[in-house]
Amino acid sequence: MKTRITELFGIEHPIIQGGMHHVGYAELAAAVANAGGLGIITALTQPSPEALAEEIRRCREMTDKPFGVNLTFLPSVKQPDYPGYIEAIIRGGVKAVETAGNNPQKWLPILKENGIKVIHKCTAVRHALKAEAIGCDAVSVDGFECGGHPGEDDVPNFILLPRAAEELKIPFVASGGMADGRSLAAALALGAEGMNMGTRFIATQEAPVHENVKQAIVAASELDTRLVMRPLRNTERVMNNAAVERLLEKEKRLGASIKFEDIVEEVAGVYPRIMKTGEMDAGAWSCGMVAGLIHDIPTVQQLIDRIMAEAEGIIRERLTKMLNG
Ligand SMILES: Cc1cc2nc3c(=O)[nH]c(=O)nc-3n(C[C@H](O)[C@H](O)[C@H](O)COP(=O)(O)O)c2cc1C
Repeated sequence: MKTRITELFGIEHPIIQGGMHHVGYAELAAAVANAGGLGIITALTQPSPEALAEEIRRCREMTDKPFGVNLTFLPSVKQPDYPGYIEAIIRGGVKAVETAGNNPQKWLPILKENGIKVIHKCTAVRHALKAEAIGCDAVSVDGFECGGHPGEDDVPNFILLPRAAEELKIPFVASGGMADGRSLAAALALGAEGMNMGTRFIATQEAPVHENVKQAIVAASELDTRLVMRPLRNTERVMNNAAVERLLEKEKRLGASIKFEDIVEEVAGVYPRIMKTGEMDAGAWSCGMVAGLIHDIPTVQQLIDRIMAEAEGIIRERLTKMLNG
């Protein structure tokens, strides 16, 4: 399949694996690249720019196809060493960067000077237009369904994607709630040039996370996610568990006076405990409503082949037959 996104990134299929904290390691990025999609290493999961450089080198050993790096710009007090991470990306010869969080404008000149294509992930049309205006090459439009941070507007993809198509000139991919060939065909119909998946890629053989995490996603339904940190305007969609219920109870009890310090136990530093050691109640971890559509743990190659075959089948047969009466 050829779209503006496959052309932009030099990939075979219009499927991107979004950056994921403590999931987006070289193993997953390389598996996605080898299967013809755009795999993404998550920079901030690496403790230092040197560690990111090493992760990029490991990924290169596992694939000769293009892959990217996610740079998440957090509103944190102690800023990570972004210049250092960017230098590791440039020196590592990476040609695709997925930015997310705050406006990436400050970092665009150096990325572009080094021939790096930038896809910015955003949850609102106004942010997508801003990304276009500052020179991003593409955007990933993340609907309310998505795992992770859906923003505060709560617009689901059936509205958000066609709205993005109405306004944008640069290509965009649909993100949030994407799982299979039906998602891809629908995303293309709504004006996207491909799709970005997070949660679906966690439930794959190659995702370097504890088996408990994969099983939890397979066991979950579309009713099993919750929105946390809404009162802090840092909303995150997470898998429900004992820690999340405790967190939501605190939010209810403390109301508008809640502070980050009140929920530190449920959210800070919990990712390694969940993703590495499989302690499923350790805290809040991002997960999309799409868990309800995930019923197995295939290899990444099987997953991507299946998505492409299913999307093609829908377009060539189901939809075309409807037209032919
Ligand atoms: C466990 C997990 C961790 C994530 N971590 C990040 C991250 O560090 N940076 C980022 O930009 N997006 C992150 N995301 C969001 C994904 O890249 C992607 O946009 C989102 O999962 C899409 O929604 P879906 O889960 O419905 O496919 C994360 C998602 C999950 C499920």
